[in-house]
Amino acid sequence: MSRVIKGQTVSFGASHADVRHEEKGAIVVGDDGRILWAGSAANLPAAHSTHPVDDHGDMLIMPGLIDAHIHFPQYRMLAAPGKDLLDWLARFTFPEESQYADRPYAASAAETFLDRLASHGTTSALAFCSVHKPCAEALFAAAHRRNMALVTGKTMMDRNAIPTVQDTPETGARESEELYRAWHGKGRLRYAVTPRFAVTSSEAQLKLSGELLASLDGALMQTHLSESPGEIALVKQLFPQAVDYTDVYDRFGLLGPRSFFAHGIHLSDRECQRLSESGSTVVHCPTSNTFLGSGLMRLTHLRKEGRPVGIGVATDVGGGTSYSMLATLGETYKVQMLAGYKPTAFELFHLATRGNAERLGLADVGSLETTKFADLIVLDPAATPVLASRQEVSKSLEDVLFSLAILGDDRAVRATYIAGKKVHERLPVTP
Ligand code: GUN
Ligand code: ZN
Repeated sequence: MSRVIKGQTVSFGASHADVRHEEKGAIVVGDDGRILWAGSAANLPAAHSTHPVDDHGDMLIMPGLIDAHIHFPQYRMLAAPGKDLLDWLARFTFPEESQYADRPYAASAAETFLDRLASHGTTSALAFCSVHKPCAEALFAAAHRRNMALVTGKTMMDRNAIPTVQDTPETGARESEELYRAWHGKGRLRYAVTPRFAVTSSEAQLKLSGELLASLDGALMQTHLSESPGEIALVKQLFPQAVDYTDVYDRFGLLGPRSFFAHGIHLSDRECQRLSESGSTVVHCPTSNTFLGSGLMRLTHLRKEGRPVGIGVATDVGGGTSYSMLATLGETYKVQMLAGYKPTAFELFHLATRGNAERLGLADVGSLETTKFADLIVLDPAATPVLASRQEVSKSLEDVLFSLAILGDDRAVRATYIAGKKVHERLPVTP
């Protein structure tokens, strides 16, 4: 049965300058969960006028937020106080991820994790699993039941970690391929080849990762790159023959338009050049970068004319300190301000919606156009007393969006829809 969702609709065209805003908008969702029609409610075609209506009044209806880098098996270990990335991984992260060898544990954690994404307005993600095959199976199965456009993969890591989170080059590649065959293209799911990073993968494993990426049609690749000074120094020791960190991945065929590199904080011009010409994406994870003391990623450096690197934005939970992509946009703003660049609210929201969708090749999401899936969020600009006061002085849509990025979090997400189905609802707080 089709339904109509009404509210103040906001989305973007290909550029953040192309803002599509209807103060009284309507979206018609078909049986298949796709958008049949979108526009001004005043122009709603008569054929759709008898459908049931979810009327969200003046609330903002936007495309669902997309998290381009998050770790499922770190869902409960936010706020672990490591000295730096490598200490945090060894002391907190690897032991926590060891739990995910256990299938029932992983299955129950997957439900909590996906509930949490929904309550924060995140409708799609590129997610890491642990090294264990049952962990990826649990997340794929749970996301499939929810009809989510989720991209994930089994992490591959065959050295420099405790034995409970290690595989071998052969088992890692075989299980990755089995998971790809079982899940890639099932419903809205996609597979991502997932070597954790150069520190925990041997040459043999990186070589097999490159071969997998080349042979698995449509699969993405996700890893970490140039996050912390200690990590970069260790990669230099482990791969003395490589020109730099990016070159380690380049040598194994891991750069390209389907490749996603989390962080990219300390990249040289040469590395940006290679990432740019290969069509790779660097995913900015600001709450993680400040929490772990990794450094300040400069968007202007990465986007330099002549060699612009494609950019995504993400929480990096559990290194990141919030599941909220709104809070993540707020921290993106602050980190860029420290680097002398002031993003606009439209630029920020474009990054987390259409921008991430396009980078990830998720052609069916990220905007409110006909035929896209109705993965939507309803945002309450006055969700908290502080936001409510702020809106008294907001003068424009950009003001409202900016205040949601700086002051918003899951409290501002009134509802989340996946393929037209309401999967989360938050009732307003009564004074
Ligand atoms: N580098 C390798 N693994 C990880 C991880 O789990 N989190 C972060 N932030 N960086 C990493
Ligand atoms: Zn990460």
